Amino acid sequence: MKAYDHIIIGGGVIGCSIAYRLAEEGLSVAIFDAGKAGQASMAAGGMLGAQNEFERENPLLEMALESRMIFPALRDELLSESGIDIELRTAGLVKTAATESDRDELHRQFRFLSKKDPSIQWLEPEEVPKVEPCMTSRTAGAILLEKDHQVKAPLLAKAFLKAAVNAGVHVYEETKVLRLVIQQGQISGIDTSIGPFHTTQVMVAAGAWSSSLLADTDFSLPVIPVKGECLSIRLAGPAPVKTVFAVDGCYIVPKRNKEMLIGATSIPGSFDTSVTARGILSLLKRASRLLPVLLDGTVDRTWAGVRPQAADHLPVMGSHPFIEGLHICTGHYRNGILLSPITGIRMKEYVKGCQKVKKMLTPFSPGRFSV
Ligand code: GLY
Repeated sequence: MKAYDHIIIGGGVIGCSIAYRLAEEGLSVAIFDAGKAGQASMAAGGMLGAQNEFERENPLLEMALESRMIFPALRDELLSESGIDIELRTAGLVKTAATESDRDELHRQFRFLSKKDPSIQWLEPEEVPKVEPCMTSRTAGAILLEKDHQVKAPLLAKAFLKAAVNAGVHVYEETKVLRLVIQQGQISGIDTSIGPFHTTQVMVAAGAWSSSLLADTDFSLPVIPVKGECLSIRLAGPAPVKTVFAVDGCYIVPKRNKEMLIGATSIPGSFDTSVTARGILSLLKRASRLLPVLLDGTVDRTWAGVRPQAADHLPVMGSHPFIEGLHICTGHYRNGILLSPITGIRMKEYVKGCQKVKKMLTPFSPGRFSV
């Protein structure tokens, strides 16, 4: 029977980032994915919204800021290890309010964030087109987050996967994990659609599919899928360079070649990746209010993905509460792309037994759901 030091279930950015870091340590690592590796991660907008996503104190904020900081070095590292450029774009993000009540909410966020980082600017409606000329002045105010950059999510997913493979990781795609093999409270392997594999360390990093993999372990992981629909529009004329984000969650992320990625709806409980006319209509209405030039563009494509959301909206990172050698890393919800670099590093240190990291990850421990 084939054996590995570590088996990772799930070949998205989280699973591949962890596998890559473990393989760098000289460990034998395999990734199993029921479909094509990275599929769910590729649906993401690629925003690195370490400030955009936080309106108040949150145990995740520090880790998000740290992960965002890693991206420039990670871009160079992944380019050299995989040959893939993740297209880090550093024009920042404008978060806008549409109504007076949005404005109050956004101003509260501005006060919270600017206390920690004075580079954050409040923009009155007439100032908005001065920082992003394609935007209308018909907003109720905005904040400028100059450090919330973006990458192209499908390229990040491919780069992590290729870097992992180049570091020696074996990838089993279209291979279903049928069962975790547990003997006397310790993981001893997995049964898959192509046969059994032996290991004493398994990491479940299968996004929204993680809960069902753990169903036989007497531990109910409250992580649900939240479907998100997106579309992309190609512009011929003037195009924005900054990410534009509305308080209601609609965003426009300008990619290379004037491709505007518009996201995303939020439909809790759905694994379905079909794209509805209602979803696209709602995105186009909201996005074109902020950036009227979008209506002159041509629609490139539409797609949908599935975010993994834990009951308390925090990631789940750490060991299974009862089973030795079984680890869980999921629930990154809207922030999987942003958090993927730090997650790989932290989980590698975690499984190596680093006590400092274990303490750091306490707020994200799977055990918080077992009490
Ligand atoms: N990160 C944005 C989203 O999940 O839609």
